[in-house]
Amino acid sequence: MTPCLTSPHVADPVYLNGRFLPLAEASVSPLDRGFLYGDGVYEVIPVYSRRAFRIDEHLARLQATLNGIALPNPLPLDAWRAVVEQLIAAAPWGDQSIYLQVTRGADNKRDHAFPPTSVPATVFAFAGPLVTPDAATRAAGVVAISVPDLRWSRCDLKVISLLPNVLARQLAVAQGCAEALLIRDGYLKEGAASNVFVVRDGVLLAPPKTHLMLPGITYDVILELAQCHGQPLEIREISEAELRSADEVWMTSSTKEVLAIVRLDGQPVGSGTPGPLAARMWQWYQDFKNSVMRQG
Ligand code: PDD
Repeated sequence: MTPCLTSPHVADPVYLNGRFLPLAEASVSPLDRGFLYGDGVYEVIPVYSRRAFRIDEHLARLQATLNGIALPNPLPLDAWRAVVEQLIAAAPWGDQSIYLQVTRGADNKRDHAFPPTSVPATVFAFAGPLVTPDAATRAAGVVAISVPDLRWSRCDLKVISLLPNVLARQLAVAQGCAEALLIRDGYLKEGAASNVFVVRDGVLLAPPKTHLMLPGITYDVILELAQCHGQPLEIREISEAELRSADEVWMTSSTKEVLAIVRLDGQPVGSGTPGPLAARMWQWYQDFKNSVMRQG
């Protein structure tokens, strides 16, 4: 019996290796290196009112990640844009999340070293609905745990080998938490699938972009908004002690936008409720988004 592969979270058609086709008809070889080795890269692009947000930045990060794993980009920029536009046009939602993935393809054998250049990359993309936190979730804030950061040393690359992130997020979910904050050598790096900001004494603190953190597209927007609104900002390493005695802690990502963390490892963050700067930044983010995405 053919399994039913339609999904309310994935629009038809999806894109696979040059074709738009129903999810139920999309298949890749079990020898694909994404499947065997997690040898590939991905992007998640938010779409508001059918317009891709910061698509140039997302495609630049995709290129940087491809460079970082020595995988030639299988599509020119214009072709990527066309794929994204066609997925957006065909999907039933105004606000969407576009997923892009490139793997090093499927050779005819299993070998850790790269396959011959004649083996084409596998390119997969689809649109899903963008579900950002609702008003009740934002008003309540979310809870988080901290865990040791067990990932590799190229966390600046958006690769599909996400097992440490998966395990960290699952630890959090098993304890009723929304996110796991990753601590390496005594310093806060980011979340399992988000960047993390801290507020202390009215100053917004952001961990610096190093090889140990993903350079979030939302992270950049937050920094720009802070600068534009005259919000005091310091980009520097944040110690675990500073994290634990912060007035506010936020997680940010393309799908979570700006979300306050109100308890960490069972202890209240600041007052234990979303802080004033989180609410202000969320509003600045909405205003910015609405001004560049929703008009006209
Ligand atoms: N994750 N750090 C990590 C480890 C992430 O996985 C993400 C996003 C971010 C935030 O990046 P951006 O602002 O560009 O979304 C930071 C996506 C949403 C995901 O894996 O689904």
